[in-house]
Amino acid sequence: CRVRHYKFDVVMKNTTRLCSSKPIVTVNGRFPGPTLYAREDDTVLVRVVNKVKYNVSIHWHGIRQLRTGWADGPAYITQCPIQPGQNYVYNFTITGQRGTLLWHAHILWLRSTVHGAIVILPKRGVPYPFPTPHEEVVVVLAEWWKSDTEAVINEALKSGLAPNVSDAHTINGHPGAVSNCPSQGGFTLPVDSGKTYMLRLINAALNEELFFKIAGHQLTVVEVDATYIKPFKTDTVLIAPGQTTNVLVTADKNTGKYLVAASPFMDAPIAVDNRTATATLHYSSTLSSSPTTLTNPPPKNATAVANKFINSLRSLNSKKYPAQVPLKIDHNLFFTVGLGVNLCPTCKAGNGSRAVASINNVTFVMPTTALLQAHFFNISGVFTTDFPANPPNVFNYTGSGPANLQTMNGTKVYRLKYNSTVQLVLQDTGIIAPENHPVHLHGFNFFAVGRGLGNYNSKTDPQSFNLVDPPERNTIGVPTGGWTAIRFRADNPGVWFMHCHLEVHTTWGLKMAFLVDNGKGPNESLLPPPSDLPKC
Ligand code: C2O
Repeated sequence: CRVRHYKFDVVMKNTTRLCSSKPIVTVNGRFPGPTLYAREDDTVLVRVVNKVKYNVSIHWHGIRQLRTGWADGPAYITQCPIQPGQNYVYNFTITGQRGTLLWHAHILWLRSTVHGAIVILPKRGVPYPFPTPHEEVVVVLAEWWKSDTEAVINEALKSGLAPNVSDAHTINGHPGAVSNCPSQGGFTLPVDSGKTYMLRLINAALNEELFFKIAGHQLTVVEVDATYIKPFKTDTVLIAPGQTTNVLVTADKNTGKYLVAASPFMDAPIAVDNRTATATLHYSSTLSSSPTTLTNPPPKNATAVANKFINSLRSLNSKKYPAQVPLKIDHNLFFTVGLGVNLCPTCKAGNGSRAVASINNVTFVMPTTALLQAHFFNISGVFTTDFPANPPNVFNYTGSGPANLQTMNGTKVYRLKYNSTVQLVLQDTGIIAPENHPVHLHGFNFFAVGRGLGNYNSKTDPQSFNLVDPPERNTIGVPTGGWTAIRFRADNPGVWFMHCHLEVHTTWGLKMAFLVDNGKGPNESLLPPPSDLPKC
């Protein structure tokens, strides 16, 4: 293993999409940002230099950060932001992980343009557990707003209403031709007939779960969230913000051009959304004038397509890559996730109330000192450890809204002993609108052991849990009006954020944190902070 050095200059860059230009926040002037390459067990040092007017922090989404929470990146959770003119070196070792992940800004809505791929290759000489592809291609899915995204969310927070949806989706930074800007090109994926390619799909969109499809070609899914799964074939991939999926695609035609489409799964946040981003798979022998074979993306809210994909996911669970699912559970947690309302006398557009979101009826309030610093240096008054293990009001999903949607505010964490095991059932409340919540846990991978519609039944549902080969992930979609159950081992000391990866829901408060105590052993404590850790 070796040490890899990267320099991320956070700079403004004037960028044109949809036939209009605006300055955006970028890393090294690029959208999407540069790919970070490493190998399993490498140490990575990224110097982030903030040359913009915003506070900045970068998160290495899915990297476990064993004992190095200081490098995790969520602003005010594990670090104070890097202020304009300042810099910070994220220093972490990639332990026992290989595959595709993503990095992204973890403050404000900067993630909309500040994101990129992380590619972790297996240790030297260790092959993939599937045939080595001819070539690997990173495919980043995202969104594009014509207006400034900070203005979009600030406007929404003032009014109390939902923010505007984006103006387009993008594939590797490009929406493809759309009716109001037909001249704009899309991303092209050149292929040779007979060869197999691995696409490293990443959903970096702020607010949209996406379907991904290639006309005329089957996709073989081999990995999700940088963990191997049992390969299966599908023509459509479902991918939520924060998730990554590796697929193999064999160029089994002789010639031609084939449409690649990324389209929204649901109406999100609470608005109609029909936009599809397009790219082209282009056989090398094909004339550029020849027509493109089209494909119909699944219709919006195609739950059957989504469920089929999700239910096909199984851990590889081989001798070399065993699924170590916790069987004995120390903490049995039940969290409701959903939207609600708070009183807001100044919100004229919201009739004196504003949209909020919560977990167990707690709308998380961001602290002004980073939680990890408060924890490490014993600074009191920053957070409380009374995050409820169950919702204060027993939740019963009936399909219609309860009388009381009010939430309480707090900076509450849930405390876990080192190496204790956790089962967490995430129950969607689906009260205000159909919502699918892709929930991301920092610092851990977890096993997705069960999933269902309606109310979770703690007596009968566990009987059908998959404890043998459940998929291992870091981000999981909680289905609309349903639940998902995850299990993990709290073997990483520190403070770990958990939140909905739809940025609008995070902003509204659908977030909390776990505090994992130090263990007693020599390698079971949080390391001390680096000397350049940003000050608040
Ligand atoms: Cu990818 Cu806390 O985020």
